[in-house]
Amino acid sequence: MSRSAHPAGPRHADVLPEGHYSAPPTDLNALDSKVWAETVTRDTDGVLTVGGIDVKRLAEEFGTPAYFLDEDDFRARARSWRTAFGDDADVFYAGKAFLSRAVVRWLHEEGLNLDVCSGGELATALSAGMPAERIAFHGNNKSTDEIRRAVEAGVGRIVLDSFQEIVRVAHIAQELGTRQRVQIRITVGVEAHTHEFIATAHEDQKFGIPLAGGQAAEAVRRALTLDGLELIGIHSHIGSQIFDMSGFEVAAHRVVGLLRDIRDEHGVELPEIDLGGGLGIAYTSDDDPREPHEIAKALTEIVTRECDAARLATPRISVEPGRAIVGPTAFTLYEVGTVKPLDGLRTYVSVDGGMSDNIRTALYDAEYSVALASRVSEAEPMLCRVVGKHCESGDIVVKDAFLPGDLAPGDLVAVPATGAYCRSMASNYNHVLRPPVVAVRDGEARVIVRRETEEDLLRLDVG
Ligand code: LLP
Repeated sequence: MSRSAHPAGPRHADVLPEGHYSAPPTDLNALDSKVWAETVTRDTDGVLTVGGIDVKRLAEEFGTPAYFLDEDDFRARARSWRTAFGDDADVFYAGKAFLSRAVVRWLHEEGLNLDVCSGGELATALSAGMPAERIAFHGNNKSTDEIRRAVEAGVGRIVLDSFQEIVRVAHIAQELGTRQRVQIRITVGVEAHTHEFIATAHEDQKFGIPLAGGQAAEAVRRALTLDGLELIGIHSHIGSQIFDMSGFEVAAHRVVGLLRDIRDEHGVELPEIDLGGGLGIAYTSDDDPREPHEIAKALTEIVTRECDAARLATPRISVEPGRAIVGPTAFTLYEVGTVKPLDGLRTYVSVDGGMSDNIRTALYDAEYSVALASRVSEAEPMLCRVVGKHCESGDIVVKDAFLPGDLAPGDLVAVPATGAYCRSMASNYNHVLRPPVVAVRDGEARVIVRRETEEDLLRLDVG
């Protein structure tokens, strides 16, 4: 991204500081449909609306900060993943992106499966009625208690992540008198083009069993000999927020190579492969994500081609999108508390939330966009940094963005594309209360995760 020319405006220095920003948009009131949920628009007064309700009303009723989630958009995205992959493949929504009982019910109704990675996610899924056989259980260090609960519940698959776990799951399944369907997660040695902390298929990290050095083949050998396990396939997840399909291409090539070796060594053709999640979404206008049908077509073609070359029947494919389903469906609504112009630098806009409701900017240097939501403005753009209320200078929500020069305390601003990994990674830092998630649909808004209260905080404090 380039440095912009100096936009005119009352709060600007002559030279703009270094930053990740393009030139200021020509119309600050315009909403780029790439980053906003489907039903978000401005009403005739210029107030942002979602699902037919304006944000001033939403702020009055539910307070700020709050996440507002467009339920129709969520359902439509879930459906489009399912229809894109069709009946010969399975879509597992990755619950870590955002999970609540309402979301589990929507997924169930839309015919998706669910990927969980902890006892808490499993409990949420089961309590909301997701059939256990449609659940995949992940994690690099599942406790024996978690494994036992998953096997007892009858989850459709456990994704094995280590040699120890192969034995643990086999023992527990045997003890419970059952055979557990499992996949083995392997690392294929792909460098995904994403932030280091969310890349997961290179070898020097904690997930999966390396293909390199024959470790994955050895894991398969052991799993095939254990009575408590039914090995149904191989799993690979290369990372998150990926736009470039070439990483998936290499991963599929290597996974299919392992399937071929397994066939040659054991005479067994494993029936499934899971290519994980990780498909990117638009956080700013600079991002260009692919549509689910393009992704489905590309992945299916890659796997079919690789299998044809290896003379294998094409296995059933599964994928695990999280962010690509829920990410674009929600925005966070904040109230502006202070506006602090710093000469020669930028204007710091403090909002009533921060790193406790969106840690992604601090953790991954993630980029977001922001818009004035409670009104339109014809004022000149000013370069801003939207920051939170925490005692931490890295408490940044949007690092570089342009907002109207007349922005003032009491204005509402909205940060789009916060549906994934914001509420699910929220914290109580500084004893700040975690915001609610409000689902909006057809002119109705309902809380699906309520706002935390001080009583909630004090309830955990013993003594
Ligand atoms: N499957 C597995 C095995 C995963 O580990 C993940 C994400 C997914 C699927 C879903 O990936 P998605 O489609 O949502 O990118 N907290 C980070 C992302 C870490 C994701 C960890 N695993 C973030 O905020 O970007």
